[in-house]
Amino acid sequence: MVKREQWGSRIGLILAVAGNAIGLGNFLRFPVQAADHGGGAFMIPYMISLILLGIPLLWIEWALGRFGSKKGHGTAVAVFDYLWKNPVAKYIGLLGVLIPLAVVVYYTYIESWTLLYSFFSLIGKLPSTPVTENVSDYLKPFSHFLVEKTGQDASGLFLTPALETYIFFVITLLINLYILYRGVSAGIEKVAKYAMPLIFVMAIILMIRVFTLSSPDGRNFLDGLGFLWNPDFSALTNPKVWLAAAGQVFFTLSVGFGAILTYASYIKPKDDIALNGLAGASVNEFAEVILGGSIAIVASVIFFGIPATAMIASNGAFNLGFMALPAIFANIPYGEFFSFLWFLLLFFAGVTSSIALCQPAIAFLEDELGFSRQKSVLALGIFLFIAAHIPIFIKGALDEIDFWVGTFGLVVFALFEAVIFFWIYNSKEAWKELTRDNDIKIPYFFYYIMKYIAPGLLIIILISWSIEMLP
Ligand code: PHE
Repeated sequence: MVKREQWGSRIGLILAVAGNAIGLGNFLRFPVQAADHGGGAFMIPYMISLILLGIPLLWIEWALGRFGSKKGHGTAVAVFDYLWKNPVAKYIGLLGVLIPLAVVVYYTYIESWTLLYSFFSLIGKLPSTPVTENVSDYLKPFSHFLVEKTGQDASGLFLTPALETYIFFVITLLINLYILYRGVSAGIEKVAKYAMPLIFVMAIILMIRVFTLSSPDGRNFLDGLGFLWNPDFSALTNPKVWLAAAGQVFFTLSVGFGAILTYASYIKPKDDIALNGLAGASVNEFAEVILGGSIAIVASVIFFGIPATAMIASNGAFNLGFMALPAIFANIPYGEFFSFLWFLLLFFAGVTSSIALCQPAIAFLEDELGFSRQKSVLALGIFLFIAAHIPIFIKGALDEIDFWVGTFGLVVFALFEAVIFFWIYNSKEAWKELTRDNDIKIPYFFYYIMKYIAPGLLIIILISWSIEMLP
């Protein structure tokens, strides 16, 4: 067997893991979810989900990955098979390859829009309507501007992307494949070392610019921050807000995809997971609630006010980031530059995440099927290129996959991780495996959270979801 790759350094590993977690979820999805679910009302379930679900499940995924590294395997296929002597185990483990693979099909497509938009901002060609009092402009369904308006056929089923859209998608895909082809340490880790500092610099510049905006009728950044940070207890009894908050925590921490498991499988079998996991999560949360929470929402509240911001967010995942924000920037001096920066930030955050979504498939092909790296990347490239035609050409496909795989699938897979480790394998052994060789001690009460509370909450989430889906 070929020797498996490893991370080059600890700081490189932490940056790569932070790059994995910090993505479109932090800067696009979080503001939309928060604004759509009441701002301050969203943050309480969010924080509770982070502690009771996010962090414990993250540690479980790290432990499963480190367990895999001992055996030379980087996906849940082999790990579940070791832990559970049942022929179905490896098929359930396959979800940890298929979920990120399905997500990356549309994730790279959205990522390619960000590259396209940053390029068009740079050359001053991003069409944007001046900000008016009339927010209805930002409430229209978002079809990114290069999906030709006339492109929808009579059945309304298909989209026709403009050539630029298609070209930028291919460029984005090739960038991802090239990084993966360079490998774990010379590709993923190296990119993270450059991209992560840049992401922070760009986000901080944007945050400062947004904080110095004000509206003619006197709204400033405090109004925006107040919307997000004034706790509002009124919505705590609404299960929808809880589901959205838990879903966001999973998505942003990259938990329940199998992607953290794969990254963790490239550490040395006796390396720490507790501190690495916590460090990655902390950097991610800083990027999410502080930086992500201070750009799109705050800018929109200053320009449009709170009710309109909530309405824009409720009208789709992209209206805030792709429609309202560029329009705001178009109305300030050097706006093209800030718009360019915003989309470039999204692109960098996107790339370091999409490669993480791809890596489980690469690990599967290498570790389980014995493919070389070149062959794995080629196979993945062909698959992604073909599969991407579904969200590119079929209307509504993106949202559909995002719900079934990128939201529902995560919860199911995370539940399997916790149950297979703590219930089917052995909870004492699982705890031992999780807490060995770490640089910090995981407090013992997490044992109970991991064994009872987290799986229990996941089951409640799944049941409430099913009830909501009923007609
Ligand atoms: N956490 C990433 C985001 O916030 C998404 C992601 C999930 C990336 C799983 C890699 C693996 O955008």
